[in-house]
Amino acid sequence: MSKKILITGGAGFIGSHVVRLFVNQYPQYQIVNFDALTYAGNLENLRDVETASNYHFFKGDITVPQEIEAAFQQYGITDVIHLAAESHVDRSIHSPVDFVMTNVVGTVHLLNVAKQFWASDLENHLFYHVSTDEVYGTLGETGLFTEQTPYDPRSPYSASKASSDHFVRAYHETYHLRTVVSNCSNNYGPFHFPEKLIPLMIRNILHQQPLPVYGDGLYTRDWLFVKDHARAIDTVFHKGIVGETYNIGGFNEWKNIDIVHLVCGIMDEKLGREKGTSQQLIRFVKDRPGHDRRYAIDATKINRELGWKPSVTFEEGIVETIDWYLANQEWLEHVSSGAYQSYYESMYQNR
Ligand code: NAD
Ligand code: TYD
Repeated sequence: MSKKILITGGAGFIGSHVVRLFVNQYPQYQIVNFDALTYAGNLENLRDVETASNYHFFKGDITVPQEIEAAFQQYGITDVIHLAAESHVDRSIHSPVDFVMTNVVGTVHLLNVAKQFWASDLENHLFYHVSTDEVYGTLGETGLFTEQTPYDPRSPYSASKASSDHFVRAYHETYHLRTVVSNCSNNYGPFHFPEKLIPLMIRNILHQQPLPVYGDGLYTRDWLFVKDHARAIDTVFHKGIVGETYNIGGFNEWKNIDIVHLVCGIMDEKLGREKGTSQQLIRFVKDRPGHDRRYAIDATKINRELGWKPSVTFEEGIVETIDWYLANQEWLEHVSSGAYQSYYESMYQNR
């Protein structure tokens, strides 16, 4: 069946990989990238698909229901894959209300428009909400997050995502909207905005600037290559059971300091610098308040029930990522400088 899928946040890091995968893999679908182009959204992430006949860009804000309605009407949207969000924990600590507005209020507006627009044939439509493992809180030395782990968010970011997950489930129970949710671990890969750990380290190593490691550096994350997350989203979208939740993870736990050492070593070699050069840039800095100690996902359910598993090892993925940043230094400087944002402001000022 020909679907008209609204992908929110399609100009961001993960969204751009999802848009690319769907545009290329499903020429019979129309893909509408609905994005407000905040500091984190960048159409340069999609240069290779922007002329495809099944790709459309709609500049819109999920906190403005009229803009969502306009996109639904213009394209006759049949399904939603919702990724638009404020996504950076450190920013959420400084500006929690922004996170409530986008992640909670924006999600509820999107749910409302979908519910109204699809009211006559709810059974033919799917609302897929993309979320994070951070909703489960923090783990000790052992244990994994399963789909049954109680929610225990501890940062404004994770609290806002947890709230949005609850609203999505509430719309399923209360209004019978067909919904599915996935909660994924930390992603890494090309087009990752350089405020997050891995691209920030790559950028600072390139410029021989200090590498800020929070606290003792022994915080642990489970890392998944972004293209594998996009494949998982494709799998859940097509095969997931309505009303269910799927945890997505890399079975790949790393302490922050070990990742920083790894990236330093690979980059010294690639940049022809003497071994150990970049490690000297490491600085242990003041810890993030409320810093979650460890995240780790049990991705058994999606593997057993839908047949998905990661295809790229961390060793392969991290080299591909570093190679991509080295080959795309212009992109890196462009997004870091903010020049692209002033460009969008002038380009869309009359909308
Ligand atoms: P990102 O910050 O790179 O991109 C977010 C995108 O949403 C940007 O293109 C931005 O312009 C857009 N956006 C923000 N506010 C908007 C609004 N009001 N209306 C329309 N568009 C808006 O984020 P990301 O890392 O790609 O994450 C995407 C989704 O995946 C988020 O929902 C996030 O919670 C979830 N997630 C991320 C990770 C991760 O490691 N990055 C892991 C698990 C889940
Ligand atoms: P981040 O990439 O912000 O993702 P999240 O907080 O959503 O997991 O951070 C990953 C880990 O790296 C987290 O434990 C915080 C730490 N970190 C640093 O030590 N230094 C940094 O400069 C950043 C951005 C993160």
